[in-house]
Amino acid sequence: MVSKNIEKALNNQIKIEAESSQIYLAMACWAEVKGLEGVAGFMYDQSNEERDHMLKLIKFVNERGGHAQISELAAPNVTFTSFKEMFEKLFEHEVFVSNSINELVHTSLQEKDYATHNFLQWYVSEQIEEEAMARSILDKINLIGDDKGGLYLFDRDIQQITVSTAATNNPQ
Ligand code: FEO
Repeated sequence: MVSKNIEKALNNQIKIEAESSQIYLAMACWAEVKGLEGVAGFMYDQSNEERDHMLKLIKFVNERGGHAQISELAAPNVTFTSFKEMFEKLFEHEVFVSNSINELVHTSLQEKDYATHNFLQWYVSEQIEEEAMARSILDKINLIGDDKGGLYLFDRDIQQITVSTAATNNPQ
Protein backbone atom coordinates (compact mmCIF):
# COMPACT_ATOMS: atom_id res chain seq x y z
CA MET A 1 0.00 0.00 0.00
CA VAL A 2 1.40 3.41 -0.95
CA SER A 3 1.07 6.33 1.50
CA LYS A 4 -0.74 9.48 0.39
CA ASN A 5 2.59 11.26 0.19
CA ILE A 6 4.18 8.60 -2.05
CA GLU A 7 1.01 8.42 -4.16
CA LYS A 8 1.19 12.18 -4.73
CA ALA A 9 4.89 12.02 -5.62
CA LEU A 10 4.34 9.12 -8.04
CA ASN A 11 1.41 10.95 -9.64
CA ASN A 12 3.66 13.94 -10.16
CA GLN A 13 6.13 11.66 -11.97
CA ILE A 14 3.30 10.27 -14.11
CA LYS A 15 2.61 13.84 -15.25
CA ILE A 16 6.32 14.45 -15.95
CA GLU A 17 6.57 11.29 -18.10
CA ALA A 18 3.38 12.26 -19.98
CA GLU A 19 4.78 15.74 -20.61
CA SER A 20 8.07 14.20 -21.75
CA SER A 21 6.14 12.15 -24.30
CA GLN A 22 4.46 15.33 -25.61
CA ILE A 23 7.76 17.25 -25.69
CA TYR A 24 9.39 14.57 -27.87
CA LEU A 25 6.30 14.31 -30.07
CA ALA A 26 6.57 18.06 -30.77
CA MET A 27 10.28 17.56 -31.55
CA ALA A 28 9.39 14.70 -33.93
CA CYS A 29 6.95 16.94 -35.79
CA TRP A 30 9.46 19.78 -36.07
CA ALA A 31 12.12 17.41 -37.45
CA GLU A 32 9.67 15.75 -39.83
CA VAL A 33 8.57 19.02 -41.47
CA LYS A 34 12.24 20.03 -41.78
CA GLY A 35 12.89 16.82 -43.77
CA LEU A 36 14.98 15.16 -41.05
CA GLU A 37 13.31 11.77 -41.32
CA GLY A 38 15.86 9.93 -39.17
CA VAL A 39 15.70 12.48 -36.36
CA ALA A 40 11.90 12.46 -36.56
CA GLY A 41 11.84 8.65 -36.26
CA PHE A 42 14.16 8.84 -33.27
CA MET A 43 11.91 11.42 -31.55
CA TYR A 44 8.74 9.42 -32.26
CA ASP A 45 10.41 6.42 -30.61
CA GLN A 46 11.49 8.55 -27.64
CA SER A 47 7.93 9.79 -27.30
CA ASN A 48 6.64 6.20 -27.23
CA GLU A 49 9.23 5.26 -24.62
CA GLU A 50 8.09 8.09 -22.36
CA ARG A 51 4.51 6.89 -22.69
CA ASP A 52 5.73 3.44 -21.60
CA HIS A 53 7.48 5.02 -18.60
CA MET A 54 4.20 6.73 -17.72
CA LEU A 55 2.16 3.52 -18.09
CA LYS A 56 4.55 1.54 -15.91
CA LEU A 57 4.09 4.13 -13.13
CA ILE A 58 0.30 4.19 -13.57
CA LYS A 59 0.07 0.41 -13.19
CA PHE A 60 2.34 0.44 -10.13
CA VAL A 61 0.29 3.14 -8.35
CA ASN A 62 -2.99 1.33 -9.03
CA GLU A 63 -1.59 -2.08 -8.03
CA ARG A 64 -0.27 -0.63 -4.75
CA GLY A 65 -3.69 0.61 -3.64
CA GLY A 66 -3.34 4.17 -4.92
CA HIS A 67 -5.19 5.90 -7.74
CA ALA A 68 -3.13 7.07 -10.73
CA GLN A 69 -4.14 10.54 -11.85
CA ILE A 70 -4.39 11.51 -15.52
CA SER A 71 -3.98 15.25 -15.46
CA GLU A 72 -3.77 18.28 -17.69
CA LEU A 73 -0.37 18.72 -19.32
CA ALA A 74 1.77 21.76 -20.03
CA ALA A 75 2.00 22.56 -23.76
CA PRO A 76 5.43 21.67 -25.18
CA ASN A 77 7.74 23.98 -27.09
CA VAL A 78 7.02 23.36 -30.79
CA THR A 79 9.73 25.31 -32.63
CA PHE A 80 13.52 25.29 -32.44
CA THR A 81 16.21 27.47 -33.96
CA SER A 82 18.26 24.42 -34.99
CA PHE A 83 18.36 20.67 -34.54
CA LYS A 84 21.33 21.23 -32.22
CA GLU A 85 19.19 23.41 -29.97
CA MET A 86 16.50 20.72 -30.04
CA PHE A 87 18.92 18.04 -28.81
CA GLU A 88 20.27 20.42 -26.15
CA LYS A 89 16.71 20.78 -24.91
CA LEU A 90 16.29 17.00 -24.93
CA PHE A 91 19.44 16.61 -22.81
CA GLU A 92 18.36 19.35 -20.36
CA HIS A 93 14.97 17.72 -20.06
CA GLU A 94 16.47 14.30 -19.28
CA VAL A 95 18.62 15.88 -16.54
CA PHE A 96 15.44 17.40 -15.13
CA VAL A 97 13.73 13.97 -15.20
CA SER A 98 16.75 12.36 -13.50
CA ASN A 99 16.57 14.94 -10.70
CA SER A 100 12.89 14.25 -10.29
CA ILE A 101 13.51 10.47 -10.06
CA ASN A 102 16.25 11.12 -7.48
CA GLU A 103 13.80 13.13 -5.38
CA LEU A 104 11.31 10.27 -5.60
CA VAL A 105 13.92 7.74 -4.49
CA HIS A 106 14.79 10.03 -1.57
CA THR A 107 11.11 10.31 -0.57
CA SER A 108 10.62 6.53 -0.76
CA LEU A 109 13.58 6.00 1.60
CA GLN A 110 12.35 8.68 4.00
CA GLU A 111 9.01 6.87 4.16
CA LYS A 112 10.66 3.45 4.42
CA ASP A 113 8.64 2.40 1.35
CA TYR A 114 11.03 -0.27 0.08
CA ALA A 115 8.61 -1.62 -2.54
CA THR A 116 8.50 1.79 -4.23
CA HIS A 117 12.23 2.18 -3.73
CA ASN A 118 12.83 -1.15 -5.47
CA PHE A 119 10.41 -0.27 -8.29
CA LEU A 120 12.20 3.04 -8.89
CA GLN A 121 15.57 1.38 -9.49
CA TRP A 122 14.50 0.63 -13.08
CA TYR A 123 14.00 4.37 -13.61
CA VAL A 124 17.38 5.18 -12.06
CA SER A 125 19.09 2.86 -14.58
CA GLU A 126 16.97 4.16 -17.43
CA GLN A 127 17.95 7.77 -16.67
CA ILE A 128 21.65 6.89 -16.68
CA GLU A 129 21.17 5.42 -20.18
CA GLU A 130 19.05 8.28 -21.46
CA GLU A 131 21.45 10.97 -20.26
CA ALA A 132 24.43 9.09 -21.74
CA MET A 133 22.65 8.69 -25.07
CA ALA A 134 21.69 12.39 -25.22
CA ARG A 135 25.25 13.39 -24.33
CA SER A 136 26.77 11.18 -27.05
CA ILE A 137 24.31 12.58 -29.63
CA LEU A 138 25.31 16.13 -28.64
CA ASP A 139 29.00 15.19 -29.03
CA LYS A 140 28.26 14.01 -32.59
CA ILE A 141 26.34 17.20 -33.39
CA ASN A 142 29.26 19.30 -32.17
CA LEU A 143 31.59 17.33 -34.43
CA ILE A 144 29.34 17.94 -37.45
CA GLY A 145 29.12 21.71 -36.94
CA ASP A 146 27.63 23.32 -40.08
CA ASP A 147 28.63 20.51 -42.44
CA LYS A 148 25.59 19.57 -44.56
CA GLY A 149 27.04 16.19 -45.55
CA GLY A 150 27.59 15.46 -41.88
CA LEU A 151 23.98 16.32 -41.11
CA TYR A 152 22.82 13.96 -43.87
CA LEU A 153 24.86 11.11 -42.37
CA PHE A 154 23.73 11.99 -38.84
CA ASP A 155 20.08 11.87 -39.91
CA ARG A 156 20.70 8.45 -41.46
CA ASP A 157 22.73 7.06 -38.54
CA ILE A 158 20.45 8.19 -35.73
CA GLN A 159 17.99 5.52 -36.86
CA GLN A 160 20.56 2.96 -35.72
CA ILE A 161 20.63 4.54 -32.24
CA THR A 162 16.85 4.16 -32.16
CA VAL A 163 16.99 0.49 -33.12
CA SER A 164 19.73 -0.44 -30.63
CA THR A 165 18.04 1.52 -27.80
CA ALA A 166 14.70 -0.13 -28.53
CA ALA A 167 16.38 -3.54 -28.43
CA THR A 168 17.92 -2.97 -25.00
CA ASN A 169 15.04 -1.10 -23.39
CA ASN A 170 12.11 -3.18 -22.35
CA PRO A 171 9.94 -1.29 -19.89
CA GLN A 172 7.64 -4.25 -19.17
FE1 FEO B 1 11.11 8.90 -18.87
FE2 FEO B 1 13.33 10.10 -20.65
O1 FEO B 1 12.58 9.89 -18.99
